Amino acid sequence: MRLRGGRAEWYRNRWVRSSQVARKLGEPYPGQAPPDDFACNTHVIPYKGRILALQESGPLPYELDGELNTVRPYDFRSTLKGAFTAHTKYDAADELHAVAYYPTWDHVRHLVIDGTGRVARTTRILVADAPMMHDFALTGKYVVIVDVPVTFDMAAAEAGAPVPYVWNPKHPMRVGVMPRSGGATRWFEIDPVFYSHTLNAYDQGDTVVMELTTLPAPFYVAGRGNGGPSTTGTLALDRWTVDLRAGRVTSTRLDDLPQEFPRVNESLVSRRHRFAYTASAAEMWRAYETVDGVPPDDKFTNCLVKHDMLRGSRQVHRFPNGAAAGEPVFVPRRGARDEDDGYLLSYVHNPDRGASDLAILSAQDFTARPLARIHLPGRVPLGFHGSWVPDA
Ligand SMILES: [Fe+2]
Repeated sequence: MRLRGGRAEWYRNRWVRSSQVARKLGEPYPGQAPPDDFACNTHVIPYKGRILALQESGPLPYELDGELNTVRPYDFRSTLKGAFTAHTKYDAADELHAVAYYPTWDHVRHLVIDGTGRVARTTRILVADAPMMHDFALTGKYVVIVDVPVTFDMAAAEAGAPVPYVWNPKHPMRVGVMPRSGGATRWFEIDPVFYSHTLNAYDQGDTVVMELTTLPAPFYVAGRGNGGPSTTGTLALDRWTVDLRAGRVTSTRLDDLPQEFPRVNESLVSRRHRFAYTASAAEMWRAYETVDGVPPDDKFTNCLVKHDMLRGSRQVHRFPNGAAAGEPVFVPRRGARDEDDGYLLSYVHNPDRGASDLAILSAQDFTARPLARIHLPGRVPLGFHGSWVPDA
């Protein structure tokens, strides 16, 4: 969707032209396809004038143009060797950080892409069992790595599971803290839980504070294709405090309303934030208890939540029953000085029309009627993550 001058100029969707997609569409693929080529489907970020579609566990990012045409696989000026991630962290230091994992590695890689747009440093961190590392956290001083007991499973891969990772009760749950300039990782063992997404993290004296969504153990990856039980329980918002002096991690439940897709004002990545935004996922996870795979859209979510971490309070913006709201993305108002001076944009299924709206909420008047609803001609499948990219 392109928004300009108070108008929605267009809405469109396009396949990312990986080599396989290009072949199926009968289109030429420029050059040779990279190893593990895949139509990246998990996140889209702006980076130094480019738009990158991202995927974890193998494929290179794909660069897209502002019209959603696929440009080429993107390897940061020939400096990215091997896997990348969907959940990067970019902060005021003009560094793009990533933690990449790959099924056959005996380690994960912390990558720092510096202001020149090149991978300037790679640190290998040894881990057992090839765990899934969907996300991580960054503070002003540290990288926080979460080693979850969801590990690569060859039998699931051979059975054709799209995501061949299974709950592994023999794999200890650990939180690793490494200086962001590289060096040794300090590990802290904690009780097993499934870590889903980082909201944000920051330093506070000798502690590292990380806020995140978690799901009770055990967690079973949807679409694993190898039978077995389903996940029960719901996602919630937690705070982990890593006390580096005492050598201890404390977990605090911030909100047990089922919720997912935590986002902050991106200008505060790695620094202390006050406000957070999530989508309530109650219906989504009820569906996961009964459906081994992706739930139907109308079982997904129907409210957005704004958290005030200073006051320890929340506001809920409800959409009608049968609506389904996707990830809320914060966009600052031009010239904003306050952290929450801006807009929350979310694709919301409108059950009255049988199609999706882009809902634009005022972040400072969160429970009021949306400032705008843009009626789309069809239904937007609720997916994972995305960004609103200034066209400049
Ligand atoms: Fe994600």
